[in-house]
Amino acid sequence: MANNTYINALKNPVFKTVSKAASQLNLECYVIGGYVRDYILNRGNSKDIDIVAVGNGIELAKKVSYLLPGKPKVSVFKNYGTAMLKANQIELEFVGARKESYQEDSRNPTVEEGTLEDDQNRRDFTINAMAFSLNETNFGELIDPFNGIEDLKNKIIRTPLNPDITFSDDPLRMLRAIRFATQLQFKIEDKSFQSITKNAERIKIISAERIVDELHKILASAKPSIGFTILNKTNLLPFILPELSDLKGVDEIKGQRHKDNFWHTLEVVDNIAKTTDNLWLRWAALLHDIGKAPTKKFDKKNGWTFHGHEFVGSKMVYKLFKRLKMPLNEKMKFVQKMVYMSSRPIVIASDVTDSAVRRLVFDAGENIDDLMTLCEADITTKNPTKFKKYHDNFKKVREKIVEVEERDHIRNFQPPISGEEIIKTFNLKPSREIGIIKDAIKEAILEGTIPNEYEDAKLFMLQKGKELGLKVIDK
Ligand code: CTP
Repeated sequence: MANNTYINALKNPVFKTVSKAASQLNLECYVIGGYVRDYILNRGNSKDIDIVAVGNGIELAKKVSYLLPGKPKVSVFKNYGTAMLKANQIELEFVGARKESYQEDSRNPTVEEGTLEDDQNRRDFTINAMAFSLNETNFGELIDPFNGIEDLKNKIIRTPLNPDITFSDDPLRMLRAIRFATQLQFKIEDKSFQSITKNAERIKIISAERIVDELHKILASAKPSIGFTILNKTNLLPFILPELSDLKGVDEIKGQRHKDNFWHTLEVVDNIAKTTDNLWLRWAALLHDIGKAPTKKFDKKNGWTFHGHEFVGSKMVYKLFKRLKMPLNEKMKFVQKMVYMSSRPIVIASDVTDSAVRRLVFDAGENIDDLMTLCEADITTKNPTKFKKYHDNFKKVREKIVEVEERDHIRNFQPPISGEEIIKTFNLKPSREIGIIKDAIKEAILEGTIPNEYEDAKLFMLQKGKELGLKVIDK
């Protein structure tokens, strides 16, 4: 067996069926793209497999289904000339080999049938243009015209053609290059890198949904800062997340400087990537300081301040999600809440009182652990003494949270006395007194004046009613 043959990658019996179908139709076909790349990289076998047919991909899909047990359903996407079927736990997508070129001002390609080589030419990166043959004569052979395998070894992202052509064919590829560089920890080759910098503005024609898909993947990586650093260097960042590029820079007035909040943010995101896979918490880390650009001020007395940046930042989260067509649902609200509350644990950390912790848990509710995770990631000081001190303080806050939780059950706070009971006790019509008493009970519990228990709250209610001049109705 030649050492460029990868029969083991094609062990799933479905591949033999595809081979047979192709031979019956008298056409060539290949596995191409991500499956080949990930197999050689040992990234685990991807379940999505792209098959390119030199001829009609839809016809091939139909033939494959016909030969498979149970004749799985073929979904045809006529507009794209593709067809998809599921068999043996894998998803096969069939497409005819194309020679394709895009117009300057649109993403709609003019498509012509082509050879395998034409098809490989128009793919995004050398590492994504490799193919395994499914033909009976050379089953499993690697067809790699751009030496993608060498780029895989050397960890390089490179376009098969002149990068200006590849990127202008589909400007999303600029972001894909950065995403692969982040996920795989590869380097973007110089010419491709320069071409991204030169063509950055072309990203404007790409839909928000496709951009966000890539941002999610960058954020979900082990070290997201790689991606954001390249986005910054190539100048794509202001087109995609201007809120972040606005955080760049250090100002100095009268010898006083503030930290560069962009680089700080990237450190926070890398920190949080080590402790959580929650994508939305990672988004919160990315956006936790965006309010600092519009709130930055300097005065002689206080030096640099960012008053209210958490509130302003949480409002900006909504605008940013809307602009990028991200969901405006509970995910967005979660990110807003994390940004809004991002300084709260820090404020109480140096003096951890029961009542401050109860209020924190009450306000954060079920998100208290996520909030603590965010705050811990926010510690980026390079001073080891301070680093230890801040972490120790948060440890204390976490311990106190557990203690307060066990005793007072604040997290999913349900008032021990209902509005109904207040109405009955004092024979009230709907009135502001009900709200006043309810609030007073809640405040007393959070302050620690009374425990979160029914009997104590009832006594407190009677006392409060008396103060308001209400009479208890005996039944
Ligand atoms: N492709 C391309 N240009 C794009 C998108 C995709 O050339 N803008 C080609 C590449 O050959 C790629 C293949 O289509 O490998 C499949 O694309 P996709 O499924 O989006 O990505 P994968 O490479 O499979 O990687 P991942 O699953 O990580 O997104």
